[in-house]
Amino acid sequence: MAIQKRQRIEHPISTLITRPSGEFANWIALNMLPASVIRKKRDGHRLTDDEIRWFINGFVTGEVADYQMSALAMAICLRGLDVNETTSLTRHMLESGQQLPRVSDRPRIDKHSTGGLGDKVSLILAPLLACFDAEVPMISGRGLGRTGGTLDKLEAIPGFQTQMNESDRDAMLQDIGTFIVGANESVAPADRRLYALRDVTATVESVGLITASILSKKLAATLDALVMDVKVGSGAFMTTEAQATELAESIVRVGTAAGLPTTAILSDMDQPLGTAIGNAIEVNESLDVLNGAGPKRTRELTIELCATLLAHAKIIDSIEHARSALARYLDDGSARERFDRMVARQGGTLTGPLPLAKPVVIEAPRAGHVRSIDCAAIGDVVIMLGGGRRQTGDQLDPSVGIDVHVQIGDAIDANQPLMTVYTDVNEDSQIHASLTESIELDDAPVPTRELIIRTIHPPSNATR
Ligand code: URA
Repeated sequence: MAIQKRQRIEHPISTLITRPSGEFANWIALNMLPASVIRKKRDGHRLTDDEIRWFINGFVTGEVADYQMSALAMAICLRGLDVNETTSLTRHMLESGQQLPRVSDRPRIDKHSTGGLGDKVSLILAPLLACFDAEVPMISGRGLGRTGGTLDKLEAIPGFQTQMNESDRDAMLQDIGTFIVGANESVAPADRRLYALRDVTATVESVGLITASILSKKLAATLDALVMDVKVGSGAFMTTEAQATELAESIVRVGTAAGLPTTAILSDMDQPLGTAIGNAIEVNESLDVLNGAGPKRTRELTIELCATLLAHAKIIDSIEHARSALARYLDDGSARERFDRMVARQGGTLTGPLPLAKPVVIEAPRAGHVRSIDCAAIGDVVIMLGGGRRQTGDQLDPSVGIDVHVQIGDAIDANQPLMTVYTDVNEDSQIHASLTESIELDDAPVPTRELIIRTIHPPSNATR
C-alpha cells in the first residue's frame, strides 16, 4: 500500500462567477424586487448570479420573507436550475455562514449520503478513514422522515455529546482524526432556514436545491475530497436509477467545479442496508462491522465508499490497495479502537453492545422467495415504536428497533423468522400485520440487484 503525498487544492468557487462591484452592485440591489426574481424563474428564465446572491442575502437578513423564499423554491422545483445557477446558489448559501478552519496539512475527506433505511455507514466510515492519517470532520444530521439520523444513533450511547466547541473539535481532529457532531448556526444558515421551509412546502425534490443544500454544508467543512452515496430504490428519496443518476451527476459536477473533488456511488435501497433499523440496534451492528464481522452489505458499502474516496483523493495509489487496507483495519481492530477513542472523547460510555427492548419474533406466513421488502412500511413501524420522530422535538426511545433476517431473493420456509422487533409495548396486532405484509413472497425464484449500482466520476475536463 502506498500512501501518496497530496497537493492541497484551494476552493476556487469564488473565482468561478464574476461579480459586479461598487456603484453598479448597489444599483442592482436597490432595483431588485423579490417578486421580479420569482416571476423570472416562474416563467422559465435563467437567474443571474447577482439575482441569486441578492435573494439569498435578503432571505438571511429578513428583507426577503419566508413566503417569498418558498415561492422561489417552488418555481425552482418546477423550472429547474442549470449548472451555473446551481453553482451560484451553492456559493451564496455557503457564504451565508463560516467555514471550518484547517488544523493540519493532512487530507480532509468526508462522505455524504442521501439517506436510507438502516444506513449506519457514517458510524463506521469516520473512524475507519481516520486510520489513514486523514481528517474526517463529520457534521451530521438527525432523522428525516423514515431515514434515521447519525446523531440520533450516536446519542443511544449513554453520555455521547453531539455538540462540541471549536477548540475541542480541533483537538479531536489532531489527536484522533475524526469527530461526529451536529451542525451549529454558523454552518450555511441559509440552507438550514431554506431546508425547514422546503420540508413543509413540498419543495424538497429538486435536483438543483438538493445539490446546493448538500454542497454548501460540505464546502463549509473545507474538504479536499467528498464521496456521495446516492441511494436508489423504494426506500430512498430517488426511487429510479434515472433520478439518482441526475442528482449524482449534478453533485459531482457542481462540487468538482467548486473546488471540492467529488465522486458519487449509486447504491441499492430497495431493501434496508444490513439488518438493523433503529438507534441502539444500529450502533450494535456498526460495532459488529468495526469488529471485522457484521452484515456483508454494510461492510461492502462502507469499504467501497472509503476506497473510492481514498483513491480519488490520492491518499492511496489504487482502489484495490485501498480495499485491502480498509479490510485489514476492520479485521485487526484498528477502526474499532478509533471509534472507542472518538466515543470516549465525545463523552460516551460504551462497555459492549447497547441494551435493546424486549424481542418479539415475526414469522413467515408461508414458504416462498422474498420478492420485495417494503422499506416505507418498516420505517413507519420504527417511528410508531418511538425510534423515529413524528414531529420535530419528539424524544426518541433508543432501545426500540427491528432486525430484518431476510433479504430480497432469499428462499424461506413457512414459520421461519422474518424479523425480530424490539419493543416494550405489548403485542400489537396492527404492527404485527404491517410487518408481516412488508415482506412480499413469490413462488418462483427472484433476481437480486447488486448493492453497488454505479460509480460516477467527475468529467475529465472538470475545473479543479
Ligand atoms: N439532504 C440535504 O442536506 N439537503 C437536501 O436538500 C436533501 C437531503
